[in-house]
Amino acid sequence: MAARRRKNVHPIDTRSLREAAARLRRGELVAFPTETVYGLGANALDEKAVAKIFAAKGRPSDNPIIVHVSDRRMLRRVVKSVPAAAEALMRKFWPGPLTLVLSKRSSVPSLVTAGLSTVAVRMPEGIARDLVRLAGVPIAAPSANVSGRPSPTTAAHVAEDFPDVFVLDGGPTAHGVESTVVALEPRLVILRQGAVTEEQLRKILPRVRGAGAPRRTRRGAPAPPASPGTKYTHYAPTRPLILFLRESSLVAYAKAHPKALVLCPTGLSFLFPKQRILALGDTPKEIAHGLFAALRTRRRGSELLALAVPRRGLGRTIMDRLERAATRIV
Ligand code: TXA
Ligand code: MG
Repeated sequence: MAARRRKNVHPIDTRSLREAAARLRRGELVAFPTETVYGLGANALDEKAVAKIFAAKGRPSDNPIIVHVSDRRMLRRVVKSVPAAAEALMRKFWPGPLTLVLSKRSSVPSLVTAGLSTVAVRMPEGIARDLVRLAGVPIAAPSANVSGRPSPTTAAHVAEDFPDVFVLDGGPTAHGVESTVVALEPRLVILRQGAVTEEQLRKILPRVRGAGAPRRTRRGAPAPPASPGTKYTHYAPTRPLILFLRESSLVAYAKAHPKALVLCPTGLSFLFPKQRILALGDTPKEIAHGLFAALRTRRRGSELLALAVPRRGLGRTIMDRLERAATRIV
């Protein structure tokens, strides 16, 4: 797409990877694809470099950042110890879309962890891991979007938000939703639902549970935050989004609002013969993959209408993102 022609977007090859690693070592920002979403990275051990992330994103300083490592040796540079439960999860899910909150070493600047005694760490898979390995330093990287916007799943999304940052273009990301964040102390809890499901985690640690209440109840009352980042409004779409809990209310609303754009499972498209449709696929995996791009859509349409999915497996993650993106839930 257009992003290819942008000067700051670079297809991935040996040269661009080396340049990205050199930039990270020099204390500059680099955006790169992970298996979940694109990240905006900086050397996690360089406070000045990390400060650039907060400035570029307009990120509140009380929202800590995930540190990406390429191997266990690098992990030991940032965390004090690895409890047995964390070890079991790492064996199963690393490299991959699982972030663990562990006690931090003093080498990690408190800016990265927003003053907490813990640090969130993950070992990504593929290009992101190659880049961290090449850089030779742990990389702090939140999602590469301006704070409050949907996470980027293509290089073009990143370039939209950051026209001047060096971006490695690895095509659309595999999962399309962020990593699952799990805390181990003081109790074992899922702080953010993500690409690894609760069910998958329970096969390894049967006692693991979600943090509980979603950010907003149906009546709109705020629930207490589970993880610093989860209290902020997130994923603001390009226009108002209404989330429908029942198919029948979506169908009725759509009939009365023919200019609205319906985000719906492909299999339900037939319900909206006169409507603009943005088909998301049918399986939870397909829906998760296309969800953030749909929230950034530039297609015509007055508002976005979305339908709830069952809250199991990846459906829990999809619902979490839809609820945060929604202007209204009916
Ligand atoms: O898939 C992902 O996780 C992507 C890619 C780039 O790795 N990153 C990402 O980062 O989604 P970000 O900053 O958008 O979300 C990180 C989440 C936030 O909710 C933040 O509050 C939480 O992790 N977090 C970070 N450090 C934490 C800590 N020490 N304790 C509790 N929560 C933490
Ligand atoms: Mg984010």
